This record gives sequence, structure tokens and C-alpha cells, in this order.
Amino acid sequence: MNRVHKPHKLDKQYPKANYIPVGVVSLKFELDTPFSGETKVTAKYRVRRNKGVADDTPLILDLAPEVLLSRVIINGWVRKPERVGDTIIIRGVTNEFTLETINFINTKDNTTGEGLYQAGDMLLTQNEPEGFRKILPYFDCPKVLAPFRTEIIGDKKKYPVMLSNGNLIDEKEEGLLHQKTYYLPFPIPSYLFALVAGKLGLLEDVYTTTSGRKVNLGIYAEAKDLEKCHHAMASLKHAMKYDEDWYGYECDLDDYKIVATPYFNMGAMENKGLNIFNVSCILASPETATDETYEYVEGVIGHEYFHNWTGNRITCVDWRELGVKESITVRRDGLFSKDYRGWGLRKEINDVSVIRGGQFAEDAGPNRHAIRPEEIKEPNNMYTATVYRKGAEVYKMLEDLIGRDGFLEGMKLYAKRHDGQATRIEDLMLCMEDANEVDLHQFRNWFTQSGTPTVTIVSEYDEALKKMRLLVKQETAPSRNEEELEPFDIPFGIGFIGKNSEINARAMNYDDYHDGILRITKKEQEFVFVCVPEKPTLSLNRHFAPVKVKYDYREGELAQLMAYDTSLFARWDASQTYGAQVLLKLAEDVKAGRELVLDKAFIDAFGSVLKEEDIDANLLAEMMTLPSETTLANMSDVVDPHAIHTARKFMKKALVDAFRVDFYFIYGGYSEDWDKQVSFDPESVARRSVANTALSYFVSDSTWKNIGKCLFGEFEKAKGMSDKYTALSILVAHSDKPNFGPFAEKALASFYEQYKDDNNVIDMWFAVQAYSDKKNAISRVKDLMEHPSFDLNNPNRVRSLLSAFSRGSVQFYTEEGYRLFADFIAEYAPKNDIVAAGLVSRLTDWKRYTPKLQILMKSELLRLKETLLEVPAEKVRGTMEKIEKSLAQ
Ligand code: BES
Ligand code: ZN
Repeated sequence: MNRVHKPHKLDKQYPKANYIPVGVVSLKFELDTPFSGETKVTAKYRVRRNKGVADDTPLILDLAPEVLLSRVIINGWVRKPERVGDTIIIRGVTNEFTLETINFINTKDNTTGEGLYQAGDMLLTQNEPEGFRKILPYFDCPKVLAPFRTEIIGDKKKYPVMLSNGNLIDEKEEGLLHQKTYYLPFPIPSYLFALVAGKLGLLEDVYTTTSGRKVNLGIYAEAKDLEKCHHAMASLKHAMKYDEDWYGYECDLDDYKIVATPYFNMGAMENKGLNIFNVSCILASPETATDETYEYVEGVIGHEYFHNWTGNRITCVDWRELGVKESITVRRDGLFSKDYRGWGLRKEINDVSVIRGGQFAEDAGPNRHAIRPEEIKEPNNMYTATVYRKGAEVYKMLEDLIGRDGFLEGMKLYAKRHDGQATRIEDLMLCMEDANEVDLHQFRNWFTQSGTPTVTIVSEYDEALKKMRLLVKQETAPSRNEEELEPFDIPFGIGFIGKNSEINARAMNYDDYHDGILRITKKEQEFVFVCVPEKPTLSLNRHFAPVKVKYDYREGELAQLMAYDTSLFARWDASQTYGAQVLLKLAEDVKAGRELVLDKAFIDAFGSVLKEEDIDANLLAEMMTLPSETTLANMSDVVDPHAIHTARKFMKKALVDAFRVDFYFIYGGYSEDWDKQVSFDPESVARRSVANTALSYFVSDSTWKNIGKCLFGEFEKAKGMSDKYTALSILVAHSDKPNFGPFAEKALASFYEQYKDDNNVIDMWFAVQAYSDKKNAISRVKDLMEHPSFDLNNPNRVRSLLSAFSRGSVQFYTEEGYRLFADFIAEYAPKNDIVAAGLVSRLTDWKRYTPKLQILMKSELLRLKETLLEVPAEKVRGTMEKIEKSLAQ
């Protein structure tokens, strides 16, 4: 196609590498060598200067300062490199040469979760984004690709299993040691390199691709956990089939291996042919995993598998372009879960809730950034809700413009055109344009500009002419370092709901309206619709573009949408908009000390949902769930978490008073016998979700003396973890009431006793206590930090207590709460900067809160900064970057 293409900011050029490896990179790992116990790493490969690079350009390799470099040999001659920061520099090299390096690494003292580290009894790697430089000197950037050959030598008893990317091509035994050699024929960047050594059991299966290739599938986990890997295995096979069916992407590997570990900073990592998974994202059995976990495991397994094309065969040129692999892969896993695996509405609503709860908050805080920022400092801080979640939504909007088929065509072209390359988001956009013959110039602003646009709509209905006029405005405040922003290209779902049915309105201008989608592209725009026989109620943003909508609904309109909108998603959305409106008003009443009264019209609208016959179970469960406290916070100009919490609790109580009997009957109608075998399919999960939501309502009616006892009975009887954990959570949430308290303690004790050997479940045990809104929450958290099962070396455990407390307990927003939290980070950041940087975000957005809380948060941040200045800077880079950005606001 002959396109006249105006250059866009997204089309930024990037520098080519000066030197690149040619041929295979050969690595040798001698694990735990005698005397020092360190691991010796030997590398050997050919290097060539890139075309057009000046002769006197030095060879620069990335290497973390803490790595002990013992030798660099070029063409057989020992050279002494300079070490500057994160690099080593060697001058006076020829056009092409053989490079050999030898270095030692201390895996035992590496607590960062990056590079090669000790994880329990295992050794394993995490190299994305820049962990490889903690293992050996190399070109540690994603645009440099090479095939790898990896030889591992280790103790037979200690490390019976030793794995790396690719196929096993050689193995030997010698005395107490054994050796395995792997070869990966595909060129990969260093961040996809992986090595695992330890005692692991294996679950095996085989997948045959459409073209008849056999792929050996293996999941490695502790032997006791193998029985919990079947769901992951089944999910993997579904994912492989979906990628073939929808995109034509076939698996290119002979062996696809997955390793499960309890010690992992992230959820999971897509290393080529050797994924590494946090146990929280892979293990599932009915007795130990909730429905959410089952769903999540399927999604993460899919996600990492989908990276095999979008990420591994085609990677990103640098970390600013992370969205070309992450955003698109999140979209791909979202479609897999929602449409291919049938989670539908539930998944759609979940995704939107995460954006409104998490991503909107990011846009409102100091870490606001574009999906494709111009510059980045610490790449570890790029793995954000903006890149992942908003990025995925942008690809969803793209689908609104070019259709599902157009999107898939674009993805096929992308694979064809860029197989084996490192790309930019621009390259993917060009494929979308070329496959569909569309101009997406303005659409690219979603990648280069940050912030949440506000779309304001004013409507006018002309009764005589049967005409509807919409005035639409979009506004996005630029961030501190942005100029005025250009308008976004927003595909905006819209419906016209009449008294009895949806109205099929006709647009005056077809260019900016088709199939229920307004194309909002200007700062101010007018849309006129004709043939509108009655004044309609507007159903807005029905496909969810990541924007905030401002529209003055007339009285009764939101209730009408809740009841009659033809889109189930829009019905839910109306319930949330309505609920939030009422809740935020209640929060104002709390602040002003006024008496709280729940709006009668809202009670009625909520009641109609409860009483509706044949309502979709997912819809019912989601509509019964009030907007979360985080979502409400994101809708407030000044966040008062205490007022929001009180308002939400009040509303729940008022709804129980109004509908006690209805909740009771819904629970009865939807629950299975709790001792029945649990099945995990969308229908059963939806029903369980309704039952347990209803339960959490009617149980909060403390007038029934025996309620705690009954609930404890259900807790004991429950076969499935969803039911068991719901009962436990409710007991704990009401533990300050005399008819619950003793049973809560009993349940906690029995839960711990039953599951003390199961990491994932014990994480849940910590979290359920940390969520408490009771006054004693802080002392409880302190006690739990002393509990024998609390383990600073286990990121999951740290998050299950500290992250859960800071997100789920209103006591976090107190002087003591903030102090406890900051004290913890001060101690923890030098150990694990990545996880600490994740936690510190809970303090860095102080500017959004009430003046009183702002002062408290800021003083904790200042104190934390002082403490961290005492620590070597490279140990706390990520955490510090966030603190400094926040204090500079
Ligand atoms: N590539 C990432 C893992 C990663 C995250 C590496 C952060 C380096 C820094 C992986 O594909 C990923 O995105 N994992 C997610 C889960 C996924 C389902 C969104 C994770 O770890 O949470
Ligand atoms: Zn990913």
C-alpha cells in the first residue's frame, strides 16, 4: 500500500549496537565450586563490530559491579578491562574476534531475586530486564540476539535436575558431579536466558501441533506439588491451541519446560523454552486454590506461552518499547480467557476494575507515564499497570477500529514481517495499518502521551425533529514534563436506550460513527443522530475506553440502565456509576458529621437486581459487589480513605437491613452443598460467586446469635477453597463481635494447622489477617512479622502481609500504620529492591490524600529516604527512584 505517512513521535529511531555476537554463545556454569562455594561462569563466542561503526570504538559489555571478574581473553590474549559503573570497557579491539570471559558469582548472598540466585534448595535465574549482567559480562540489552549453548556442571545429589533453554544435547557423569548441555537454536536476547538446578519432580505431557510437530511438555515442581500441576498443564495445551487457531502461531520448540518456585519476585517469566513460575501462578487443587486462582493460573500460563511469539521470537529493541511485548501479550491472554476459555463478562469486568482501581491511580500519582515513554531510568520500574493494563486496553480499542479479524490479520502480518527481530511499538502499528489499509496516526498518541482523558458529554434531544445532538469534549491535563497534549483517537461505545428497547439511531455523519461506536478525535466535537423516536437514555463507554466519563444523568436514568441496558457490561457499569455516586455523597456526609441515610432510589434499583428472575449469574454477582474503596478513591479529588471506608460499610449494612431475606434466599438458591466436589467451569464459578457474595451480606447481620458458629461449621465442611476462604474471611472480618470472635480465632488456628506446608495457602492466611480494619490490625501485623512462618526471603510472604495490609486495611492510613510500613521498607529494600519498590508506591502518591494524611505520608517518605541513603546506592535504585520522584512533586 502506498501510504503517505506523517512521522509520529512513536517512530523514534534507536541506536544500533556497536558490537554483536556472531554464531553461538557458549556458556559453562560450574555450580558451587569447591572452597569458595561460588559459581564459576565461562563464556566463549565470536564478536563482530557492526557495519558503519568507527574502528576505535571500544567494546563495552554490561556487568554488575558486584560480580568478581577473573579474566577477559580476546583472540587468546588476556586483556585488562576498565570497570565503569555497570560496564566493562575494552579498547583497541579488531573488527572481529573471539571473546572469552571467566567470572565468579555468589549465589548464596544474592537476595535480590535477579541474576542467578539461591531459591530455597534451588538455584535459578531471573534476567528480565537487566539480571544477566549480574551473571556474566555481556551485551545485556534486548536488541542483541544470539543462540545459546549452555553447559551446566553440578553436584548429582544436590542438583539432580539441571535445566537451561533449548534441547538437551549432551550429558555426562563424573564422580559426585554430573554435566548437562543444552542448545537453543533460536537467537534470543540475554533477558530470556534461564538456568535452573535443584531437586524437582516432573509432570510430563505431549502436545501435537496442527502441522504434526510433537512438543514435549514438562512441569517441574517439588514432588509434593506435582498433583497440583494438572490444571496448569491443561491450560498450557489450551493456550497452544488458541495461538494456532486464532493467530496461526505454532510452537517452535521440541521441549517446553516450566519450573515452579516459591521464591520469585514476579508472577512468572517467559524464558524461551524454560518458563519460571511463582508457585502462586501455577499450583491449583480444589482444596487449596480459590476460583480466582484457577482463573489466574490459566491466564498466566497463557500469557507466558503467548510470549513465545510476542516477546521471544519477536522481542523489543529496548525497555522503553516494553509495550510491544507486554501490552500485546496481556491483550492476547485477555482474549484467551474472555472469549476462548469462556470467562466472558466476568473477565471483562475484572479487567476494567483493575484499570479503574490501579491504573487510574498511577495516572494520578508521581509515576504517571506514557505506555511508551521517551526516557526511562530504572527499567524495573516500567512493569506497571500503565504498560500492562492500559496498554492492553489500547489494543482492545484498536479492535474497535479495525475489527477482530483486522486485528488478527495485523498480528499475522507482524509475525511474518518481523520473525526473529527486535521491534518497536511502531512496527506493530505499521503492520496493523498495512493489513487493514487504515491510518492510525492519531491513534498512536495513546502510546506516547500519558494520563487519563476525561470525556464530557452534553446531550440535547429535539422532540419535534426526533433528533439527538451530543456535544463531546475530551480533556487530558498534561503532566509536569509534557507540553499540551494532542487529542486522543477514542473509539467510544454508545447506545440509545428507549423505554422498551434499544433505539437504532442513525448518525448524520458516518465517518465518526459506526456499529455503536463514536469516534472521538477532536477536543470538541458534535454528533447528530436522527430517527430517534423518543428521548433515549444514553449508555456510555460501553466497550470501555480507558477514560473518565462526565455526564449528568437525569434522575432515574442510571436505574433504568441497570435494569434494561441491552449490554450486560453496561448494566454492571451503570450499577457502579450509581453506587459510586451514592457512596461518594455518603463519604461527604461522614466527613461533615451528618447522619447517614441510604438513598431510597438506589435501594430500589439494587433490590430490582436481586429480585430479577433468570438474571445472568455473573452479572448478579458483580452487580451485588459495590465499587471498591480504591475505585472510589480514584474518583475523589481529595482522598479520605476513612470516610470512604465508613460510607461503604454503612451502605453494606443498610442493604442487609433492606434485603436480609433476599440475600438469604439467593445464598440458598445458588450455593452447592459445601461438602460436594468442586468443579471449575464458568457456570459453576459464577454461581459460587453469587452465593458467596450473598453470604457476605446476610452474615454481617449480627443479630443472629449463632451465626459465627454456623459459619464455622460451613468453614469446616467446605471442600473447595473458595467456600472455605469466604467463610474464614467473613469470620475474621467480624471478629470484633462476640458471636464471631472465638470462631474466627478457632478457624484461623485450624486453617494454619491444616495448611502449614502449603506456601500459597499460608500466604492467604497471612493476608486475611492483614486485611483487618480493626483497631488492633497494626499490632496483629507486627505479631505476624514475628511468626515462624514469616520469611523475609520469600517475596510472596512479604507481599501477603505488607501489601495486603497497605491495600486492604484502613488502619494503614494512620500515623502508626505508615510508620510500620516505612520501617519495614527501610529494612527490606536493601535485600530486595524490586519488591520494595512495588511496596513503596503505597506511600509515594501522598498528594492525592487529605492534608492530614499528606503530612504523615511525606514525613515517613523523608525518613525512609534518609535511612536508604546509608545503603550502597545500587542496592536500592528502584525504590529510591520512586521516593525521589514522589518528593519532587
Ligand atoms: N516478562 C514478565 C515477567 C517480568 C516482570 C519480568 C517484571 C521482569 C520484570 C512476564 O511475562 C509477566 O508479565 N508476568 C506477569 C504475569 C502476567 C500474567 C501479566 C507477572 O509476573 O505478574
Ligand atoms: Zn509478560
